[in-house]
Amino acid sequence: MSEAWADSGKRFFLTTPIYYLNGQPHIGHAYTSIAADVLARWKRLAGHKVFFLTGTDEHGQKVAQAAAAAGVSPQEFTDNLAADFRGMAEKIGISFDDFIRTTEGRHKAACQALWQRLADAGQIYLGHYEGWYAVRDEAFYGEDEIEERDGKKVAIASGAPVEWTREPSYFFRLSDWTDRLLAFYEANPDFMAPASTRREVTSFVKAGLQDLSISRTSFTWGVPVPGDPAHVMYVWLDALTNYITAAGYPDTSSPNWDFWPANVHIVGKEITRFHCVYWPAFLMAAGLEPPQRVFANGWLTIEGQKMSKSLGNGLDPLVLAEEFGLDPLRYYLLREVPFGNDGDFSRRAVIGRLNSELANDLGNLANRVLSLIAKNCEGRLPALTEPTEADRALLGPVEALPALVDDAISRQAFGEALERIWTVVRLGNSWIDGQKPWALRKTDADRMAAVLRSLHTALRTLATVLQPFMPETMAAMLDQLGVGQGARALSDLATPLADGTELSAPVPLFRKIEETA
Ligand code: MSP
Repeated sequence: MSEAWADSGKRFFLTTPIYYLNGQPHIGHAYTSIAADVLARWKRLAGHKVFFLTGTDEHGQKVAQAAAAAGVSPQEFTDNLAADFRGMAEKIGISFDDFIRTTEGRHKAACQALWQRLADAGQIYLGHYEGWYAVRDEAFYGEDEIEERDGKKVAIASGAPVEWTREPSYFFRLSDWTDRLLAFYEANPDFMAPASTRREVTSFVKAGLQDLSISRTSFTWGVPVPGDPAHVMYVWLDALTNYITAAGYPDTSSPNWDFWPANVHIVGKEITRFHCVYWPAFLMAAGLEPPQRVFANGWLTIEGQKMSKSLGNGLDPLVLAEEFGLDPLRYYLLREVPFGNDGDFSRRAVIGRLNSELANDLGNLANRVLSLIAKNCEGRLPALTEPTEADRALLGPVEALPALVDDAISRQAFGEALERIWTVVRLGNSWIDGQKPWALRKTDADRMAAVLRSLHTALRTLATVLQPFMPETMAAMLDQLGVGQGARALSDLATPLADGTELSAPVPLFRKIEETA
């Protein structure tokens, strides 16, 4: 098992998108953050030095308009909402190491330093922008990317209304980067995932890139352009820079700078163009390393319907966590949909998985084993013995599990990781039924003890690898299994628990939920 965690001590920097402060956080935001959180927790468990960044995207026209609609200043508006987003992240167990707000001084300094570097490299020129802009997407669109729907011009990709914009603007020489980006993608096959993202982005770049407007003069809620404060920076240049701000930029002697380049940016699929095209181009143009990977998650619908402000169906993660429990909610979000695909959130499916996979498969297995140990072994962990062939049938897959989970999580295949884990949960259930430790009590007490010890080993491994997905419940499970706080990392699995460890009486880990109409 040691081979999988040989990288232990290595730095791992991962990020969520920074969320626009134009409304309350909803389950779509929670989805991306929970996935990133599982990855962060997994890497910590594997012994990496993790830097997990999340935060809020506070500038731009979209946020300025939302503040105006609320009748407050953008600063007051964003101060309030940023606190809501931060509070939400904390309440859903997001174990971030830094929460960045783009209105912070450190961020303004980083944006201006990056701008200056691009300008010094001859990558910026002053011109005039004339074209379509969608405030909702904070994106410029070409004539071929818009269409008319119900008498209104909208962006084809997102359906967001576009308006004709004409103003003086600084441009970034993105057109210089077409070939270098394609060469970069070619040399770094893991840079973009899933495959659909890689295909879409590559064909967008192959079609040829145009210079990008990177400043605006028609509003002021943004980072002023150095030397020309009539302009504020384009909100995406500002937003993307957050990732290096948090790594200490422009102070490249800061200890945090050792974390750059980021190992992975987790983003929604609608913002891959910004992360996979503009961002590496800005960085390479500034002489900085691009991130190693961008993983795009799909979109969640609610009971089959698109989440939208007008439908008012942007579910509040805290209400859901209240109803189902936070850990079952986290489990469901990563189990139901292969990460990277679009998927649906449905109450029925949550309840179905909670009852069958959590309460029945895992909860009952733990409860049966721990009750048998409490009843038949005086609540003490039976001694380790030489495994028989029957034991090997269980312990072989148990020992192989952490490396398989590591491989899946390192590819952001969270659903596959859970499927691997559940293969062992199901094996545990069929194995206990076959071994019948309750019947061995009278006929062969030694074998009963050995069987229970093998099952305990299986449960310990399961609870250990499941910690990133369900931190609270697995902490309780490890408590019940007698695994001390300091012995819960992947590398600790190599050290067996002491024979005779006292175990507390089992308490059910999951409650079943009645299905209501
Ligand atoms: N501010 C930009 C990102 C800047 S990153 C340098 C932004 N913000 S956002 O708040 O509109 O969306 C952020 C992310 O929330 C999306 O990329 C996506 O990951 C997540 N989601 C928002 N709604 C979602 C769903 N309905 N389903 C899944 N994820 C969704 O874009």
